[in-house]
Amino acid sequence: MATAEIKMIGVVGGGQMGSGIAQVAAMHGINVWLLDTDPQALAKATASISASINLLVSKARLSQEQGTDVLGRLRCTSNMEELHSADLIIEAIVESEDIKKTLFVQLDKIAKRSAILASNTSSISITRLASSTSRPHQVIGMHFMNPPPVMKLIEIVRGADTSDETFKATKALSERLGKTVITSQDYSGFIVNRVLMPMINEAFFALYTGVATKEDIDTGMKLGTNHPMGPLELADFIGLDVCLSIMKVLHVGLGDNKYAPCPLLVQYVDAGRLGRKRGIGVYDYTKESRSKKP
Ligand code: 3HC
Repeated sequence: MATAEIKMIGVVGGGQMGSGIAQVAAMHGINVWLLDTDPQALAKATASISASINLLVSKARLSQEQGTDVLGRLRCTSNMEELHSADLIIEAIVESEDIKKTLFVQLDKIAKRSAILASNTSSISITRLASSTSRPHQVIGMHFMNPPPVMKLIEIVRGADTSDETFKATKALSERLGKTVITSQDYSGFIVNRVLMPMINEAFFALYTGVATKEDIDTGMKLGTNHPMGPLELADFIGLDVCLSIMKVLHVGLGDNKYAPCPLLVQYVDAGRLGRKRGIGVYDYTKESRSKKP
């Protein structure tokens, strides 16, 4: 499929990534169906996209008319049949291989024959997701970074059977969305998380073994290497459960003990300290300014 033919995309999952992806597409002139089985998640997604567009209008980055047009290109649904009109469907649901495979089986049934099925997975094998469909050559990884409206990258992941045509159409679409594309083969963690997560894990080891305080670890990486967030702050932003699950995928998939998750990361997740989304992770976000909790 040529990118010019991609007029409508479907996004499955109304969470932070799904709503961000839907916003990016609508802002680049593409009609979007945003699907979530939970109407409350859809209401939250719509409110967050509207707030984001209104902010851009208030900063004069978009005219009022452009803002209205963007929102007009976005439709929400809980009915999967609506995705039949989509030329490309991106799933951005929970990081569970079983749940994603079940979704891919359903999407394969309802999507039009020519449609590309893409996954925003951060680490699950595209080849295995593709194998649950009858169109593995039309399945691909399209990994957006968080927050999608701000981050300039899309990591495209080619499964074992992804066709050149699917790759070219997905790359062209990504560029149409204003993103720079990098391409990864389908190995655990792809490129970004293969490099990022061991760094975050190592920051947890530095904290766990008493090398330094969390603040000094983060300041060291922020001012010492010009990262916008320190690794522990970034882990809270991503979600400690997500970081742990990616470390487990690296550990199992690459079979090297250097990827073993830090016990402190495991303990925080066990304690429900999942990061910003829970109000507490490495840092405590329940107070106005972050506390000094260990
Ligand atoms: N949606 C839309 N716009 C947003 C936004 C969001 N969720 N969050 C921030 N912005 C915009 C702000 O409106 C602001 O716009 P402006 O410059 O036009 O005023 C701009 O981004 C900067 O935001 P802030 O001033 O509020 O805050 P910061 O300057 O601290 O930037 C940040 C926030 C962009 C999140 C920055 O801290 C950052 O880049 N952090 C690192 C993020 C990162 O590494 N992401 C990748 C994580 S790894 C990943 O996603 C892979 C996955 O598989 C785990």
